[in-house]
Amino acid sequence: MGAGIADVLARAGREVIGIDISDTAAAQAVAALEASTARAVARERITEEERQDVLARFRTFSDLQAAAEADLVIEVVPESYEAKQEVFRALDGIVRPDAILATGTNALSVTRLAADSAHPERVLGLHFFAPVQAMKLVEVVSSVLTDPRAVDAVTRLAQDLGKEPVAVGDRAGFIADGLLFGYLNQAAAMYEAKYASREDIDAAMKLGCGLPMGPLALLDLIGVDTARTVLEAMYAASHDRLHAPPRSSSSSARPV
Ligand SMILES: NC(=O)c1ccc[n+]([C@@H]2O[C@H](COP(=O)([O-])OP(=O)(O)OC[C@H]3O[C@@H](n4cnc5c(N)ncnc54)[C@H](O)[C@@H]3O)[C@@H](O)[C@H]2O)c1
Repeated sequence: MGAGIADVLARAGREVIGIDISDTAAAQAVAALEASTARAVARERITEEERQDVLARFRTFSDLQAAAEADLVIEVVPESYEAKQEVFRALDGIVRPDAILATGTNALSVTRLAADSAHPERVLGLHFFAPVQAMKLVEVVSSVLTDPRAVDAVTRLAQDLGKEPVAVGDRAGFIADGLLFGYLNQAAAMYEAKYASREDIDAAMKLGCGLPMGPLALLDLIGVDTARTVLEAMYAASHDRLHAPPRSSSSSARPV
């Protein structure tokens, strides 16, 4: 997600600082931007000179201190509350007082992250969808504590990136994943119950419902572990059995 968000920001003329504890991940993000902009040159969408400008706007670091002068920080570390809280707490001691802190979480509580931080009013959710370059939707998530000026600023930014921002309140999964993951969970349960083969489940939703991809193929794309983490967070918040994943990925336990 970080590489995709960096790509759309740099192409839209923003100075982007990518921070990752893994040098390999940072190098991969730079390589991805080099490749995507090279394709854009080959298709004559941008010139080589414009490509060099985009590449010059993206710099990577391994230390959060690099965020000291940022107007906006978009956190996309793995989907773990503890990992995100650690990053937000560290950022509180680094960023400018007027900086906006956005989390890219799918399903964790933006409100809790805000309340656990030093300045809850500057914390909001900014939920992009993968692949970031192609997907138009951005959910802009406010908690009751969020300053409306911060919401306005990131909404304008999303529009500048060519995205369609949708304002939502803080609820696990927000709109899109709140609806999608219950469906994916049901598809996995249907397969697990041996009601239909994975090919037939995917074909039914593609050919019968006009979806571009079947649910089990989509689960593979998202990653079963990531999907499980999202469902667990949604189930913890909703206690709705629709969101209850099987008890373990290796067991044949059915959702409870
Ligand atoms: N993958 C998706 O389709 C998708 C879509 C929307 C939102 N999200 C959300 O975006 C976030 C990231 O997801 P992802 O799939 O890109 O994860 P990922 O595991 O691919 O990438 C996370 C990156 O964070 C780095 N990292 C870990 N701890 C760090 C720290 N303390 N400081 C700096 N970097 C650190 C890792 O090295 C890794 O490169 C999650 O919250 C996820 O729920 C993912």
